[in-house]
Amino acid sequence: MKTIITGDRPTGKLHLGHYFGSLQNRVKLQYDYDTFILIADVQALTDNYDNPEKVRNNVKELALDYLAAGIDPEHSHIYIQSLIPEVAELTVYYSNLVSVARLYRNPTTKHEVGQKTHLFGNDGESITYGFLGYPVSQAADITALDGDIVPVGEDQLPHIEQTREIVRKFNNIYGETLKEPEAVLSSNPRIKGLDGEDKMSKSLGNCIYLSDSEETITKQVMSAVTDPNKIKKDDPANPDICMVYYYHKLIENPNIETVCKECKAGKRGCVSCKKELSKAIYEYLKPMQERRKYYEQHPEEVEKILKDGTQAARQRAKNVMKRVRKSMKLDYFD
Ligand code: TRP
Repeated sequence: MKTIITGDRPTGKLHLGHYFGSLQNRVKLQYDYDTFILIADVQALTDNYDNPEKVRNNVKELALDYLAAGIDPEHSHIYIQSLIPEVAELTVYYSNLVSVARLYRNPTTKHEVGQKTHLFGNDGESITYGFLGYPVSQAADITALDGDIVPVGEDQLPHIEQTREIVRKFNNIYGETLKEPEAVLSSNPRIKGLDGEDKMSKSLGNCIYLSDSEETITKQVMSAVTDPNKIKKDDPANPDICMVYYYHKLIENPNIETVCKECKAGKRGCVSCKKELSKAIYEYLKPMQERRKYYEQHPEEVEKILKDGTQAARQRAKNVMKRVRKSMKLDYFD
């Protein structure tokens, strides 16, 4: 069986953008692959080093969101990055194989640095060694477990490319040792916000979280952008430029054809269409929220899942590091 490695930074709760962007895909794939899902707390610290409390709390939230979304501990290992010291070790060895200029060219890190002026200064002049280098530690995450496939969103592609470069360089210098992983894009690589923004994201305030109440969902949906040419309730409209329709499609509303027909014919007011969508989203999330509730009430089960997942990941990393140390002639007393 091939191995999947993927994960998220524990910096907040997961929303529909995460779900349709990657989680849904992971849930599907977990039955056909040996799946490892990491809670990237070390990576989260690269831009939250001054707020360990936040990272700590979100490790738990993220684990709950994973389980709620349908990551099945019988089929996937959920593990905590900082508890795999082999990854930190491998990061150090990799750091010799990447130039600083190459790291500066990574478009995702570049974009993030531009957004984090409070930490890294207006033109990124105070960027830290840790943040600039997090793609190197991500390469270690993936390769320390012999990952074959990395299912991620579009923004992660530069990191996977960088991982592949490191692997090729390593194998070239030290001999064939590491697996070169492949990125797999989920079917909806980027989910637009209901406000029409390119992306659902916490900083844009346009998120519907997997754990949101019906009330909160309705509030967000009511602010959704619809066809601007539709003024009156019975004006015909173009669903293809309406975010409400986009979300009806996304959650696969079984009523979708009627929605489309009525909208085009001017037989569907936007307010009632939004009400229908809010309800449908809530219904869609309900099984997840029920699972979340179960695990919230059974914290000892969650802890065991994380412990077991971490142990499985660590065992793999130990085996890979044996190979790495041998290839690098660091196997002194083996
Ligand atoms: N960078 C990823 C994100 O921000 C999280 C991550 C860390 C990851 N290590 C990984 C993803 C390894 C895939 C594989 O979402």
